[in-house]
Amino acid sequence: MIIKPVIDGVVARSAHPLGCEQAVLNQIEYVKASQPITNGPKRVLIIGGSSGFGLASRIALTFGAQADTISVSFEKKPSEKGTGSAGFYNDYYFKRHAKRAGRVAVNIHGDAFSQQIKDDVVEAIETYFEGEVDLVIYSVASGMRPKAESGQFWRSAIKPIGQPVSGTTLVLENDQWHNSTLEPATEEEAEATRKVMGGEDWEAWIDALINSESVAKGCKTIAFSYIGPEITHPIYLDGTLGRAKIDLHQTSHALNLKLANFDGGAYATVCKALVTKASVFIPGLTPYIIALYKVMKEKGTHEGCIEQMQRLFSSKLYGGEQVPVDGERLIRMDDWELDPETQARVKQLLDEINSDNFMQLGDYQGFKHEFLNLNGFDIDGVDYSSKIDTDKFIK
Ligand code: NAI
Repeated sequence: MIIKPVIDGVVARSAHPLGCEQAVLNQIEYVKASQPITNGPKRVLIIGGSSGFGLASRIALTFGAQADTISVSFEKKPSEKGTGSAGFYNDYYFKRHAKRAGRVAVNIHGDAFSQQIKDDVVEAIETYFEGEVDLVIYSVASGMRPKAESGQFWRSAIKPIGQPVSGTTLVLENDQWHNSTLEPATEEEAEATRKVMGGEDWEAWIDALINSESVAKGCKTIAFSYIGPEITHPIYLDGTLGRAKIDLHQTSHALNLKLANFDGGAYATVCKALVTKASVFIPGLTPYIIALYKVMKEKGTHEGCIEQMQRLFSSKLYGGEQVPVDGERLIRMDDWELDPETQARVKQLLDEINSDNFMQLGDYQGFKHEFLNLNGFDIDGVDYSSKIDTDKFIK
């Protein structure tokens, strides 16, 4: 069949295998041409390694630090009904290219929140890593988490806390500007979001690895967070997602103490706002992203996931004796985003951007192009008219 992009609101319903392969290859090329990651980890576990920051970190460490990797992800396989999700193909092609480069790449598909997958990973560490990991990256972005053995779920809600917030979503399906008002979350919704996106499962992973004696001397762990400028605080930092991220930051301190016993450390890493499968869902954030992209591209400071991860590992996490952190012990990869001159220009643009001019004033084209790229579309060098046999992936 010939695969075309299908977008439902802000959700991609199709993915192109060859485009996903090309997107992985482009990231590999970027890493190979960049500063190598010296003193990097050799055995890395990535929880959420099939797309976004997780995939980029896997590529950066495999091709920039010659690391072997185990990745856990939750992705849709192709079937008679659909093409499957981009993350499925990213995993498939990443593994192929990593193996060609002589690296071990193990893909484990399943629910990271479950005990079964944690046990499977411990077994894989035993088999492929001689029993120990040097770095654990927690990069799960999920809308829900099962409550152990009850058949019920915690569901995250992207909402403000305390008062309603009006925000705009850019609907990728039809390029429309859509205003909505979000009512404040109930206490139950805020708590459910913390359960899904906070630090609890990250801590459960590190505990499972410590208990199974899978933690190597000097082992580090990181998880990703977002803070953003004040204009995004009502929907992000002061809302349910922010509450979950504060929980994640606090977890990093608890884990830092636990890993100190192994001469290691734990860090919440604050990244830049980027287009990913997860971030396009956040109302109010997309106008900010198109303004930010416009300004950072003009200034030459724009980064995507791969540039952020390459810089994180080469200059921060493995850049010297000490990991550089701020007063709250956070690694700041949002330093270029929050540069005062950049933010002043973004704020000015946001005051001017509206439903009539957002395509001209903001970088909407770049935003949409990146979203299509995530799903293997709109990528140079890919023949989109060629017929794809998804049966081979099903088999
Ligand atoms: P993404 O949607 O691109 O990737 C999420 C990953 O989690 C995928 O590999 C997916 O398979 C995996 N996953 C989801 N549910 C799972 C489950 N139940 N079991 C196993 N794997 C599961 O997301 P993205 O944007 O890379 O987010 C990763 C982290 O980075 C999140 O914590 C997010 O809050 C954070 N972050 C994102 C920013 C952005 O602008 N995109 C900015 C700063 C932080």
